Amino acid sequence: MPNPSDSAVTDLKRTPLSPFGVLLESPAGDADFRDIAPETLGRWTDEAKVVVLRGFKLLEKEDWVAYCETWGEILQWDFGAVLDLNIQEDPKNYLFARGSVPFHWDGAFAKATPHYFMFQCHEAPEAGGGETVFCDTRLVYQDASEELRRRWEGINITYRTDKLAHYGGKVTRPLVDIHPQSGEKVLRYAEPLPADKFLNPLSVEPEGIPEAEHEAFIEEIRDITHRPEYCYAHGWRSGDILIAENHSLIHGRNAFVGDSSRWLQRIQIL
Ligand SMILES: [Fe+2]
Repeated sequence: MPNPSDSAVTDLKRTPLSPFGVLLESPAGDADFRDIAPETLGRWTDEAKVVVLRGFKLLEKEDWVAYCETWGEILQWDFGAVLDLNIQEDPKNYLFARGSVPFHWDGAFAKATPHYFMFQCHEAPEAGGGETVFCDTRLVYQDASEELRRRWEGINITYRTDKLAHYGGKVTRPLVDIHPQSGEKVLRYAEPLPADKFLNPLSVEPEGIPEAEHEAFIEEIRDITHRPEYCYAHGWRSGDILIAENHSLIHGRNAFVGDSSRWLQRIQIL
């Protein structure tokens, strides 16, 4: 592995993404992103929330795991450190199907919540669709009225899902949480997965508001978090590397168009 050095930074073309995030392109086309000091890349991710690296070569699994270990402890699952996200013919979990993936944050059912997750895109969907959509919940909270913030602060939500892939169980989390590094207010929210539409239903039970208002609450959160001013949708290109800051964001995926295939790999870092 080359010595990480900030000199690798000078050639990068920086393009802001909208409404947040940054695209860093290397003109060389086959640069090594390990040449950017991990502390620098980590700082950029904390600032921009989503960093897309384009024009860099992807790493072999072992090299990539070793690199991510320089960022912090890697969250381990029963499949190991690297999740292969592809479309399966007979999926057991909606992540591997062609449909959409509603908003959630990573690690809700894990022993610890990852700070970052990193993707390598080996194969982008040719016919389109399959964008990963990120919502910056800090912006959602900051723009909310005092009255709405007060209401949200009193809500805890219980999520239940069966373990059909690598995660599952029951967790209760406050809707409004504190970002563990920055101290900013963030929302932790996962959208319900109704049993008639998803392979692995997820129930969402808000506490702290009357039951008669649960449905209206779920609709309100959906309408607000999907507003374009809070969401960046990443259309994948083969070779993209994307790093996201999980504590501030919730994310989901648009459905694939046609019979597109896609192959991403993901590592989560605590
Ligand atoms: Fe996810």
